[in-house]
Amino acid sequence: MIDGKKVLFSGMQATGNLTLGNYLGALKNWVTLSEEYECFYSVVDMHSITIRQDPAELRRRARNLLILYMAAGLDPTKNCIYYQSHVSTHAELAWILKCFTYMGELNRMTQFKDKSAKHADNINAGLFTYPVLMAADILLYQADVVPVGIDQMQHLELTRNIAERFNNLYGDVFTVPEAYIGKVGAKIMSLQDPSKKMSKSDENPNGSIYLMDDPDTIMRKCKRAVTDSEGVIAYRDEQPGLKNLIDIYSACTGKTPQETVAEFEGKGYGELKPAVGEAVISILKPLQDEVARLTKEKAYIDSVIKANAEKAYYVSSKTLRKVQKKVGFPERIR
Ligand code: TYM
Repeated sequence: MIDGKKVLFSGMQATGNLTLGNYLGALKNWVTLSEEYECFYSVVDMHSITIRQDPAELRRRARNLLILYMAAGLDPTKNCIYYQSHVSTHAELAWILKCFTYMGELNRMTQFKDKSAKHADNINAGLFTYPVLMAADILLYQADVVPVGIDQMQHLELTRNIAERFNNLYGDVFTVPEAYIGKVGAKIMSLQDPSKKMSKSDENPNGSIYLMDDPDTIMRKCKRAVTDSEGVIAYRDEQPGLKNLIDIYSACTGKTPQETVAEFEGKGYGELKPAVGEAVISILKPLQDEVARLTKEKAYIDSVIKANAEKAYYVSSKTLRKVQKKVGFPERIR
């Protein structure tokens, strides 16, 4: 609890071009929850270097992502928006937690397996211990809730296990966090292959809608989305491409999938697809305009970065000091 409010933590990587999946699965929910909770939203640039990055490009993307958080509606005076690399407590707690995490647990992480297959020439130790840094992110702020898409559930489960293990040994040090998964949009699939999630690293750019895509591109991608030959609008697993389009439309318009099906009853895919395109454009266009406006406010953004990193350090160092004491590190002489 901070000032009588429960705590929320979440983060996003500044790697690749963010997709509609990142927005509907995470960022959109962050904004909805931001009033109710004391929120910490990090640009997790330390996670990004587990894959080789171009330094100038990473810096540019990290700043754009921070601006995107604000453009989506997160007020930086109420929400702590900061770069993970500016707050040294994350790396310090991650080290300690690594000593409470088993190799076997990390070996089971499907994202590690996927990423090592994709980057076979660079299976570094950071990629392997990536979920422990994520656990440190969350546990440092004593977060009660962590809004994420379904693909992060396994990492969150590991975080809970690490927290419980530590608490069993040393008393109630960490809050054990719960995942928050949105009702619709928690797993947006590729428009070209609905068996795969929409991803920043997809080789086929038509499979993903990127947050910075212009309206014509968004419309073209929606119209070309892979569906099926059944020709009937229904929300079911046997029609995964269609189900995904219904999810996207519902998440963008605030309707339930059932309401969307009712709206398009008796109509064809030829009517649904452009309507999905319009719904996405109506969400992304204002977001893009706000990103463009904020990007010009250089001094203001810099002041947000500085103030929020200080706040994040202040809050997180309380947990870190407690943990250091518990594991037996000598007290600091002041
Ligand atoms: P990242 O950067 O891959 O994704 C950011 C958020 O977007 C969600 N997401 C999706 N949701 C629905 N459909 C999709 N196709 C889709 N693709 C991505 C993700 O679930 C995530 O919520 N390890 C994390 C970042 C992280 C973090 C944390 C998250 C680091 N520390 C602490 C929460 C708490 C990651 O790489 O997310």
